[in-house]
Amino acid sequence: MPTTSRHFQLASHGSIFELNRGTRNGLAAQPQQVLIRVGAASLNYRDLLTLQDPASNREGLIPLSDGAGTVVAVGAAVTRWKAGDRVSVNFFPAWQGGGYSPAVLATALGGGQTDGMLSEHVLADAGALVSVPDHLSLAEAATLPCAAVTAWHALFERGQLQPGETVLVQGTGGVALFGLQLAAAHGAKVIVTSSSDAKLARARALGAWKTINYKTQPAWDAAALDITEGRGVDHILELGGPDTYDRSIGAIAPGGRIAQIGVLTGFASRPNILPLQFKNASIHGICVGSVQHFERLTQFLSMHRIRPVVDKTFAFDDAPAAYAHLQSASHFGKVVIDLS
Ligand SMILES: NC(=O)c1ccc[n+]([C@@H]2O[C@H](COP(=O)([O-])OP(=O)(O)OC[C@H]3O[C@@H](n4cnc5c(N)ncnc54)[C@H](OP(=O)(O)O)[C@@H]3O)[C@@H](O)[C@H]2O)c1
Repeated sequence: MPTTSRHFQLASHGSIFELNRGTRNGLAAQPQQVLIRVGAASLNYRDLLTLQDPASNREGLIPLSDGAGTVVAVGAAVTRWKAGDRVSVNFFPAWQGGGYSPAVLATALGGGQTDGMLSEHVLADAGALVSVPDHLSLAEAATLPCAAVTAWHALFERGQLQPGETVLVQGTGGVALFGLQLAAAHGAKVIVTSSSDAKLARARALGAWKTINYKTQPAWDAAALDITEGRGVDHILELGGPDTYDRSIGAIAPGGRIAQIGVLTGFASRPNILPLQFKNASIHGICVGSVQHFERLTQFLSMHRIRPVVDKTFAFDDAPAAYAHLQSASHFGKVVIDLS
């Protein structure tokens, strides 16, 4: 049982939060809880947004939704887990299965009102845990709860992706590369956009069918239509927001599905959706996913031996540098913090 557990927590600093060190003592599992020794955590774009929102009443909150670790103790009522099990915690601990309720939003780890994973030890509800696939390290598994579950939910749970269909992902960050890996493994043809030719070459090596540089080809919707011989793309992971939405609507195929996920270019209002009507196309709003989604994702990862793309791993003490690296947008895939 740990005596002292180190973590980082949010501390307001003018118009932003910064990361302060902290410690906790005497963490003990309640009857339905599990105590986890965190091996690694990972960052998402959302964690940058959290730092930029000091009005959010999150002073002292331990950040980061994503991590993986080893069970060290279980509460008296827990039968499913035991010491030594390797586990992740779902982004929404309270969304374990079935339909979504906005009530789960406040339970979002490390950004809602619930402490997150940038801590050597965490307590979690036993029902919120998912087993780490055997073929993954804890550092790799730490990348799954937000970005991978979101891509899975969008393409497989809501999108009902079929082999041979086309998929377009925007950029080469976490959600986009999971979208690429999952869809390619399912036999879909994936188009990747990026600001960097070097990153696009890496995307092709990962299985991208076609690539478009959205800096040198800003009309990437026209390029996607050309690639698909005028038909359009069956599934688009819409990650950009106001600067990309019109082009996603332009590039979607008849009957296609746009997964509304991201805000990389801001929160401004979305454009005219009327063209969707004349394509019988749809927009699905996607908000991460449930424990059941996460479990089906890990089964798929195990079946296809898919390994997350870890761009760079930082030591626990260098957590602020990990945030700065994500902010630079020079990464390809996921940024990880080692807590082992
Ligand atoms: N709704 C949900 O449940 C949910 C879940 C997860 C994430 N998200 C959102 O999804 C977005 C992606 O998150 P993430 O964690 O995967 O981000 P990330 O890893 O930080 O990815 C950032 C990358 O996005 C690309 N990008 C930036 N601006 C772009 C643009 N205008 N067009 C195309 N690509 C662009 C860049 O790739 P290149 O360097 O290759 O150009 C950049 O490196 C964020 O807005 C995040 O808030 C939402």
